[in-house]
Amino acid sequence: MYQTTAALRSAFLEFFRKNGHQVVDSSSLVPGNDPTLLFTNAGMNQFKDVFLGMDKRSYSRATTSQRCVRAGGKHNDLDNVGYTARHHTFFEMLGNFSFGDYFKEDAIRFAWNFLTEELKLPKERLCVTVYQSDDEAFDIWNKQIGVPAEDIIRIGDNKGAPYASDNFWQMGDTGPCGPCTEIFYDHGDHIPGGRPGTPEEDGDRFIEIWNIVFMQYNRQADGVMEPLPKPSVDTGMGIERIAAIMQGVHSNYEIDVFRTLIAKTAEIIGVTDLENKSLRVIADHIRSCAFLIADGVMPSNEGRGYVLRRIIRRAVRHGNKLGATDTFFYKLVPTLIDVMGDAAKGLKATQSIVEKALKAEEEQFARTLERGLGILDVALSELKGDTLDGETVFKLYDTYGFPMDLTADVCRERNIKVDEEGFDAAMAEQRSRAQAAGQFGADYNAGLKIDADSEFCGYSELSGNGKVIGIYVDGQAVDTLQVGQQAVIVLDKTPFYGESGGQVGDKGQLTAEGLLFEVSDTQKYAQATGHIGQLSKGKLTLGQELLAQVDKKLRHRTQLNHSVTHLLHAALRQVLGEHVTQKGSLVEPERLRFDFSHFEAVKPEELKAVEEMVNTQIRRNHELQTAEMDIEQAKAKGAMALFGEKYDAQVRVVTMGDFSIELCGGTHVGRTGDIGLFKITSEGGIAAGIRRIEAVTGAAAMAFVAEQQQELNDAANLLKADSHSVVAKLKAQLERSRQLEKEIAQLKDKLAAAASADMVADAQEIAGVKVLVKQVEGIDPGSLRGLQDELKQKLQSGIVVLGLAHGDKVNLIAGVTKDLTAKVKAGELVAMVAAQVGGKGGGRPDMAQAGGSEVANLPQALASVTPWLTERLA
Ligand code: ALA
Repeated sequence: MYQTTAALRSAFLEFFRKNGHQVVDSSSLVPGNDPTLLFTNAGMNQFKDVFLGMDKRSYSRATTSQRCVRAGGKHNDLDNVGYTARHHTFFEMLGNFSFGDYFKEDAIRFAWNFLTEELKLPKERLCVTVYQSDDEAFDIWNKQIGVPAEDIIRIGDNKGAPYASDNFWQMGDTGPCGPCTEIFYDHGDHIPGGRPGTPEEDGDRFIEIWNIVFMQYNRQADGVMEPLPKPSVDTGMGIERIAAIMQGVHSNYEIDVFRTLIAKTAEIIGVTDLENKSLRVIADHIRSCAFLIADGVMPSNEGRGYVLRRIIRRAVRHGNKLGATDTFFYKLVPTLIDVMGDAAKGLKATQSIVEKALKAEEEQFARTLERGLGILDVALSELKGDTLDGETVFKLYDTYGFPMDLTADVCRERNIKVDEEGFDAAMAEQRSRAQAAGQFGADYNAGLKIDADSEFCGYSELSGNGKVIGIYVDGQAVDTLQVGQQAVIVLDKTPFYGESGGQVGDKGQLTAEGLLFEVSDTQKYAQATGHIGQLSKGKLTLGQELLAQVDKKLRHRTQLNHSVTHLLHAALRQVLGEHVTQKGSLVEPERLRFDFSHFEAVKPEELKAVEEMVNTQIRRNHELQTAEMDIEQAKAKGAMALFGEKYDAQVRVVTMGDFSIELCGGTHVGRTGDIGLFKITSEGGIAAGIRRIEAVTGAAAMAFVAEQQQELNDAANLLKADSHSVVAKLKAQLERSRQLEKEIAQLKDKLAAAASADMVADAQEIAGVKVLVKQVEGIDPGSLRGLQDELKQKLQSGIVVLGLAHGDKVNLIAGVTKDLTAKVKAGELVAMVAAQVGGKGGGRPDMAQAGGSEVANLPQALASVTPWLTERLA
């Protein structure tokens, strides 16, 4: 039974569904709205606010199979991955959650029943741990479940601080946490290792399979444990570990998922030894890399993108070690989709983007390797002694992604040692920097927490009455507000739209008799809407009724930009392809900004087609339809949902004719015709594979067109043309200036020829060789080369050195006729002169150029040519 990982996943979710749990989709690997986390690293992440009492759901029991990445930041396993039986960058965590519903007793019973009844694991193979002081959990295990006391191990604060324990789980330095109980499986006495709490516990025999956390506290930055509103439950079981047990294997890498990926990798690269550790590394890494890209992370040089880049490069490097000669990594994506079953839904939808991004990164890394080899070559040729210093090795690694073992390989071939200690030291320093960055410096509890509900009535009305249910000054709740004070005001009902989904918050006024609060922004705080601004008249008190009036003009303009964003999104997908997905959006009164995935610059004709398509839909004047429905129904209707975005079970669907249907909570126009006109003002790339369009609508679009018209008219005036003949006139002008440039060049050549005739007369003889050294003036640096050629020709056999000072720069050129290059190399000659004017240069034996910056030293530098040559030619 349950021989595949997919079957196990379904069985788990089904078990908890039958026990009253809502089956919730895995959330994105990029934690929504959580600055404390680099990547989603546990099933509870998406429910953090629910545990804290800041978010409410329609269910109080949930179950998920959550994709997680632990690489970079707090839980960093990257360097171990592939070499141990159980370290992964990517894994799936099965979990069940109670939000103030059941607590210790049911949580323990559910887990035990699932393992021993559903999966039929032999009880004698299981043992458990509890937190030292958790007698309640001990008794449940012992008296109610019947686990013998000797199989229940108490674990105290074994990590050097209060609450720092294997049996006290916390998500980060702040946030929800609590004591936990863990279930261990004994893989048998043929494997070395001891029970938890023994000195041999780090062995591989007893493996933790399930962690049940009793969420009770919200840890503050100062270490204080604030009790949660309701005791809750968070559990996690790594699917790979339990799959290994069910499939009768010891290492996670032997389960179906990895066996399939390893076999495919071996096939692509052409490897026969399936035990090779590099295959494991690749099989592990394709999972994190593919799912991270599917969740919107792109390889880059900072933050999440940097971690992703490092994982891809590690995989590619291991591919090279296995002998891969071509790009291979992206070719694993189809197999990954197959083997991940239901868990690969989102990956499947973004398959082509994921493959392209992986391929592009792999190709770029190949070029990086080449560049790195060039730099290493230089470093080695300049090396004094027999050891390459750690700093350089680290720089190659860090800046050029050049792996240390490769540097060592190259060095070995040349009998050069590598300063590994120095490298390790530089590495350790970087790691501590990265860890500091991994914390993201944020305190989760620093944000304003408001436990209140505001009703939004602003879809249909722009003014309405609401009661003040919260006043916050500098993050503190107060009862009254005085004139001049800045505050966040919460109303029970408001037409003000709180910033979300890219649409900015409304501005406007809250008023009452003798009272005026000017709203400069509106934000959401969990379920509450906060009006941010200043009291400029009267006194504001909790419980007071206010008239809330949204600034109509601004809201109206914002709406045009929001509705057109939907049209733009749909048009981009029609013109460029289905791979286009939204990567970010900003909707303001003045303009809109839309970021989307696409791998090359949008061609001018494509951009034109998009703009025309949107304007056609505007003219078709569709009536906007909005409807509330449940998420599955909306998806069935083909509504565009943003992958990885957190949606409630009930969603709002916005439809514009047969052209666009999207999930959206924003505010919109009544008919598309209201938008008037759509003009794209710019298009460009903002990151690998991500483009940005900026655009305007309505009156702003008209103003944009008028401005362009004005520019055209101004240009026409300058050209003394009318606006229709500007292009023809400009073409003629350009043609004429090209002609003039040509004539000037010819004249310059003539002048140079004439000057060279004079100059030849100045040549001196050194040991029978004609030598001409001259500081020239008043000529263009671009003509130096022609002049040098000319002079060489006239001398027939000889050496020419010319120096030109212009502004604060020096240009040098040296020419040696072919018959003399055996004796004197132009490159060496020019380098000798350049060194005296603060420059460098080089070139061919018969012609070499250089630059410099010390104008004052030029005459002296030129004067040194004669003695230098005298020595050479003697
Ligand atoms: N959140 C707990 C863990 O990650 C279940 O182990």
